[in-house]
Amino acid sequence: MLLDFMNNFTSLIHGHAHPDVVRAVQEQSAKGSAYAAANVNQIELAEMLVDRVPSIEQLRFTSSGTEGTLMAIRCARAATGRQKIMKMEGGYHGSYELAEVSLVPFPDECGSLDAPVSVPVDDSFPGSVLNDTVVCPYNDPGRAEALIDAHAGELAAVIVEPILGSMGMVPASKLFLQALRHVTERHGIVLIFDEVISLRLGSGGIQSVHAIIPELTCMGKIIGGGLPVGGVGGKRALMQHFSPERKRPVMHASTFSGNALTMAAGGASIQAYGASEVERINVLGQRLRDGFNKAFSQSAISGQAIGQGSLTNLHLTDAPINDSRDALSAMRRR
Ligand SMILES: Cc1ncc(COP(=O)(O)O)c(C=O)c1O
Repeated sequence: MLLDFMNNFTSLIHGHAHPDVVRAVQEQSAKGSAYAAANVNQIELAEMLVDRVPSIEQLRFTSSGTEGTLMAIRCARAATGRQKIMKMEGGYHGSYELAEVSLVPFPDECGSLDAPVSVPVDDSFPGSVLNDTVVCPYNDPGRAEALIDAHAGELAAVIVEPILGSMGMVPASKLFLQALRHVTERHGIVLIFDEVISLRLGSGGIQSVHAIIPELTCMGKIIGGGLPVGGVGGKRALMQHFSPERKRPVMHASTFSGNALTMAAGGASIQAYGASEVERINVLGQRLRDGFNKAFSQSAISGQAIGQGSLTNLHLTDAPINDSRDALSAMRRR
């Protein structure tokens, strides 16, 4: 027997080969996999997401979460006329430079928490990207507010993962997300929730759990039922920046985005992921964490399981893990 706790990096919300998803893909593949036009599966999945996710009035599908966050950032820049983006230290938003700035904030490079340095992940990063990114410490409402106040005039968006996935499922406190919501609203900065991972935590994403509503929401993973997918959605007024009816719309083209197979798989997967299923696997997640933590307490190994709902990760330290610096120093102590 194989116990797969990764489920393709959290994308397979029902595990492998859920019968409804298999059936939907089989039926659609006999009709065609991709068309250069909207298809009914696309509309059905979009309607489900609009119904569930409070911030989403309109949305666009992409072929990956990477493209979803990229399009959100472009939309925010076009809407505000500002250039800089704030991202969280240790936050990951996909495979392009801006989305990876300070993904791994090594202690000798990352500077003070009052003004974290924009750290490149590898040698490919242009200086312009580092200059355009303001790095914010995670889970520190006071410092976040001070940094946003200081950069307000040049910030188009603040992008945040409501649970820091790459750093080992470090949940954001509600207080932190509320602080980001208030200060961005005050300055007319677009707040982007990257819910590529956290969407599963409530039937309307983590935003519905905390009742904190961003302007834009990025999605991926579970909305594709195991096929490549992403998306960005939000307030109609902002999404209008993509409209071909505009003089200079934000350009978003993609051969496979919204393809009929992914949309069929995603529709079946989301349909089968109603409120009771969300609750059921969130309880399983808590049980898993409790079991690990009990085992750690009974062993000679320092460690803890952290996370939220159905998302869990292990850290080999007893010290509290609130941000990426805590998570990384636990890794380095080993
Ligand atoms: C929070 C978050 N945003 C964006 C992405 C990028 O998604 P993709 O791998 O589909 O490009 C990921 C991928 O793991 C992610 O965890």
